[in-house]
Amino acid sequence: MRIPLLAGNWKMHKTLSEGSALVEELLAGLGNHTDREVLVCPPYTALAALRPLLENTPIALGAQDVYFEKQGAFTGAIAPAMLVDVGCRYVIVGHSERREVFGDDDATVNRKLHAALEVGLRPIMCVGESKPQRDAGQAEAIVTAQVRAGLHQVSAAQMADVVIAYEPIWAIGTGDTATAADAQAMHAAIRATLNELYGQDVAESVRIQYGGSVKPDNVDELMAQPDIDGALVGGASLKAESFLRIIHFQ
Ligand code: PGA
Repeated sequence: MRIPLLAGNWKMHKTLSEGSALVEELLAGLGNHTDREVLVCPPYTALAALRPLLENTPIALGAQDVYFEKQGAFTGAIAPAMLVDVGCRYVIVGHSERREVFGDDDATVNRKLHAALEVGLRPIMCVGESKPQRDAGQAEAIVTAQVRAGLHQVSAAQMADVVIAYEPIWAIGTGDTATAADAQAMHAAIRATLNELYGQDVAESVRIQYGGSVKPDNVDELMAQPDIDGALVGGASLKAESFLRIIHFQ
């Protein structure tokens, strides 16, 4: 039984007061679902301040990235244990913006994933193809290769803490979503890869989120697909009304 995970990736948005206001609104409108999990990933600067608001609530706290070293002379970087220290349960690794803007490659993503697991954080590993790669018919090969490389030397037992997010790059922030059928096909391909790597029990238990222009008006259809186990939401997670509608998917 995979519990859907609805996650808000705030990216580089929200001051402390804006972030607190959003969290208060989310908490007020959340209701008491027991069949889904909710997560917000604010910028680093808001994590410590939001922690007391989220403690003992159904909303978990996560970060948007992490560095793989434990500590040291790495100006500007944040260590995994620091995220635990401010109350994070989850961390996103390998978001396409990290890959494209900051140069993270599959090997870096794999190191970050291991570093997160080592301190008990649950990594959400993002994978996804570009538009030219899709147009060239390479989407599935690219994405499944990212899955294999990102999970290098991750054990079957560790997979209990790993979430995968399929985010086609051309769908992120563009309003252009993959059709539910195309998303489902890729999720099934990712699950088949997990089956090859870890066997059926692990493959059936790992959550695979979809991300890329998830909105109130397309979430129900996406979530109705058998291999879509949640959403990683950017733009529509920045307003309580739209993120709550996504959380309350049918
Ligand atoms: P979007 O972003 O919902 O704004 O497309 C998704 C993401 O990048 O995680």
